[in-house]
Amino acid sequence: MSAITKFIIGDGGLPAICVETAVSTAEIYLHGAHVTKFQKKGEPPVLWMSGKSLFETKSPIRGGIPVIFPWFGARDGKVLKHGSARVKSWRLIEIAHLAGGSVALRFQLPAETDDADFAELEAEYTVTVGESLGLDFTVKNNSNSKSLSFEECLHTYFTVGDIGAVSVHGLKGSQYLDTVGGLNERIEIGDSIGISSEVDRIYHDTPVTVEIHDEKLRRKIKIEKQNSLSTVVWNPWIAKSKAMADFGDEEYHGMLCVESGNVRMNPVNLGPGKSSKMSVKISSSSM
Ligand code: BG6
Repeated sequence: MSAITKFIIGDGGLPAICVETAVSTAEIYLHGAHVTKFQKKGEPPVLWMSGKSLFETKSPIRGGIPVIFPWFGARDGKVLKHGSARVKSWRLIEIAHLAGGSVALRFQLPAETDDADFAELEAEYTVTVGESLGLDFTVKNNSNSKSLSFEECLHTYFTVGDIGAVSVHGLKGSQYLDTVGGLNERIEIGDSIGISSEVDRIYHDTPVTVEIHDEKLRRKIKIEKQNSLSTVVWNPWIAKSKAMADFGDEEYHGMLCVESGNVRMNPVNLGPGKSSKMSVKISSSSM
């Protein structure tokens, strides 16, 4: 079959685009340029979505891939956590049907008119749906005199069969900021990471490929990236899940965030007129 793209009115009346290729399906909301679905035919969804997610213009969608930009976490003097991009309505500027049957959708973030600190940054995001999911996030500094610094993160929520039967590979030997129970810098010593309590870690200087091995679904998810030095691993576990209104109390069993970005110790500094591109490729295979 040749690929099909369809415009729909999604949850909460928000506009979205459905993509169906010969091998996969995907769904992307203009609100946040938020990928809410990527699923290979005959497999469980790769991306996880909360059944409690809000779909309203003032809130981020819970699950899928929130685009975090131009800052990560809380920032002094800013009201929004994780930047404004995930609650902005992006413009879809191109749909390209590629040789091989993939579809690439290009989105543009409207200029920041209400935040002078980032008004000169221009962001574009290309989502390519096929056998794998490709994500290219490009930022240009339109100032002709000033260097600008920002953070970016593709905050990806993955579906897992059972969080207790999952291991994360590729981060051995990396330094990370552990944000659970204070802020502590640590070194990852294990060959792989298992999750049996709340985990919220920012791994620095990690351009590496990370894999999630899922014993229950017998599936391996591979996260390959370019120009991304940070990897965030997050599972809220019991108390945090209960504290979030848009997250089910028991949903932490079935999800894991492995986020690719440039945050905290690894921000992007762009000279006048320069641009940067971070790319992530997400693929899955059976194991
Ligand atoms: C992660 C952070 O990236 O995002 C966590 O490391 C945070 O600290 C999580 O709780 C979710 O953030 P939010 O704003 O979507 O609830």
